[in-house]
Amino acid sequence: MQSNEEAFSEAVSLLRSSRWTVVFTGAGVSAESGIPTFRDQLSSLWEQYDPEQLATPAAFRRDPNLVWGWYEWRRALAANARPNPAHLAIAALERYLPHLKLITQNVDDLHERAGSSHTIHLHGSLDAPRCFACARPFNQQRCVAGDTLHIPPPRCMHCNGRIRPGVVWFGEMLPRRELQSAFQAAKACDLLLSVGTSGLVYPAARIPEIARMNGAKIIHINPESAEVSGDCLLRGSAATWMPNLIAKAFL
Ligand code: OAD
Repeated sequence: MQSNEEAFSEAVSLLRSSRWTVVFTGAGVSAESGIPTFRDQLSSLWEQYDPEQLATPAAFRRDPNLVWGWYEWRRALAANARPNPAHLAIAALERYLPHLKLITQNVDDLHERAGSSHTIHLHGSLDAPRCFACARPFNQQRCVAGDTLHIPPPRCMHCNGRIRPGVVWFGEMLPRRELQSAFQAAKACDLLLSVGTSGLVYPAARIPEIARMNGAKIIHINPESAEVSGDCLLRGSAATWMPNLIAKAFL
């Protein structure tokens, strides 16, 4: 097993020589902005719920107020959060790697707020709600989350259907254009940085697999991830590793 020092110097030289680079992020990149990952123990209000049980069309049909309340809670967290040094370093990477493509599974907008110019969002956005019945977009402004679990979703102005969050739920298709662009970028890259993702949720988890199959090198940044043979693993937090990597590789 490589030590962190060996992995760091390998990662620096991979970054310096990369031309076609993909950064692939998951919930871990926003963890240090105060947004819990899907595997974290939740705060007292939501601790009895499993996020994966709330993120399905069936859960919304069964209890729309609970599911809407959960997403309003996450939306308020994201709105009050700030990009952390990992988001900022990823945005800064574009200056040194002009062909960089950023692909995220996150539904917050912290990459955009950090200055990343174009982010492929595979799982939608907390800020793009639409009607559950007719799919028309809904213009939602304020967050109404407080210390309550159940919040009734607003109603569609056209068909009176319930408004749902604009995120991809388990059992739903990912947006086609985004998925195609992500697969293409993974196929074409020579280096993929996988930052703060458990790599458990498909089809997004195919992205590093496609990159590896096509000869790209992979760097993982994660405090917990298991070692994959041939990949470079930096154990620890994204907000620590990402700025250090850029400083060493390019400054
Ligand atoms: P997960 O919650 O599955 O995994 C988060 C990963 O981040 C874990 O591997 C942690 O070890 C790692 N992590 C935690 N803190 C970190 C830090 N400070 N720095 C770096 N890494 C850290 O999140 P995703 O992989 O994004 O899907 O999950 C993928 C999808 O599963 C999500 O988009 C969501 C979820 O269910 C849907 O909602 C459809």
